[in-house]
Amino acid sequence: MNVLIIGSGGREHALGWKLKQSPRCGTLFFAPGNAGTALLGTNIPINADKVDTKTVDAIDYFCRHENVGLIVIGPEDPLSQGLADRLAHPSRAVFGPVKDAARLEGDKAYAKHLMRAASIPTAEARTFTNYEIAVAYAQEHETPLVVKASGLAKGKGVVVCDNAEQAMAALALIMRDRAFGDAGETVVVEERLVGQEVSVLALVDGRNIFVLDPAQDHKQVFEGDKGPNTGGMGVYCPTPVITDEMLALIEREILVPTVDTLRREGVNYQGVLYAGLMLTAGGPKVLEFNCRFGDPETQALMTRLKGDLLEIMLAVTQGKLDEVDLSWDPRPCCCVVMASGGYPGEYKKGIPITGIEEAEKLPDVRVFHAGTARDREGRLVTNGGRVLNVCAMGKDLKEAQQNANAACDKIHFKGAHFRRDIGWRVMK
Ligand code: AMP
Ligand code: GLY
Repeated sequence: MNVLIIGSGGREHALGWKLKQSPRCGTLFFAPGNAGTALLGTNIPINADKVDTKTVDAIDYFCRHENVGLIVIGPEDPLSQGLADRLAHPSRAVFGPVKDAARLEGDKAYAKHLMRAASIPTAEARTFTNYEIAVAYAQEHETPLVVKASGLAKGKGVVVCDNAEQAMAALALIMRDRAFGDAGETVVVEERLVGQEVSVLALVDGRNIFVLDPAQDHKQVFEGDKGPNTGGMGVYCPTPVITDEMLALIEREILVPTVDTLRREGVNYQGVLYAGLMLTAGGPKVLEFNCRFGDPETQALMTRLKGDLLEIMLAVTQGKLDEVDLSWDPRPCCCVVMASGGYPGEYKKGIPITGIEEAEKLPDVRVFHAGTARDREGRLVTNGGRVLNVCAMGKDLKEAQQNANAACDKIHFKGAHFRRDIGWRVMK
């Protein structure tokens, strides 16, 4: 079966790497992919960030021509714009939720409404479309707030505030100045929760739910969780802060009611449902839902996954998740992100990268490409802020971290930086 993966990051490289191990996997295509995915299959020059008729027609034509039997949609932007709906065809399977289901990520006000209706634990929130009313609310509020653009804003539309002044500034930025365009037409203002953050991802086939091992992400750029937020500097999986009992509770009180409530509203959720949770003193509470695989959580999950990802994905699209075989390598995985100098601020592209092969000679090390490309001379160069995702396993998390750091030390590009402390919160 030929497979097309939509997206260009480390998540897509990791999914492709795992799919390629399936005995049933034929040719892999990536749209548009990166220099790493080009080593696994064929990159095609189609970018689906904006889902218009031209893009849909190009993908549809390509899939017919190349006999693609499975399309996997990685990122949230095409999912929220309904790419899964528009590519649906009896001759192929599409992995990723339809537009009405992807709304859980793309419309935070809707997600809040659904959680309230289903009594799902989440931060207390109010939704506003009027700037003056929102400001008046923030002004009166004494405890810290979080201000969120309701729509998709490339992960940047959330402002965690310490006081009312900051909340009012965030409202001005999002609602008055429209820093995130239409995504800020509606805002969600919610109570600021404290605790450790975890990512719980589940496969959902419309009815059945299979919860994947929980992971913890490191959003801040510097060691000790200092400095500005990034798209993620590393992740480890599984995380010991979530016990089996707590995971069962998360499934029962959060994931199942979400999928059931959607189904009652006529929405069939198929794909990955990703709950970003805060482990508060009052139990786990939802910070956000994502309608896709997490990045870089997926890189660590795929490194540990045992089972045939192609069969698993097909089962999801066929409502047969209860029939699949899925287990994990018991060893934890630590994934370290190597970033460009200057990231998350401004950075240069086109800087040559060396040493990946040496890194991958180390035991249980796998390097996924995120922002990479080939230059005119065919050299591997940087092409984004987050460049490589270096994954390693170990007998325990400490060893996994050491192995990942040792692998990073073999890789060189000018200005490269990474955090050596991935997993520190649970390693004391
Ligand atoms: P979101 O995109 O909604 O997950 O928000 C991005 C980040 O903002 C999260 O990963 C959290 O670190 C933080 N955040 C979001 N909502 C809250 C909240 N209610 N309390 C504290 N931090 C939050
Ligand atoms: N790891 C965060 C995300 O995928 O949104």
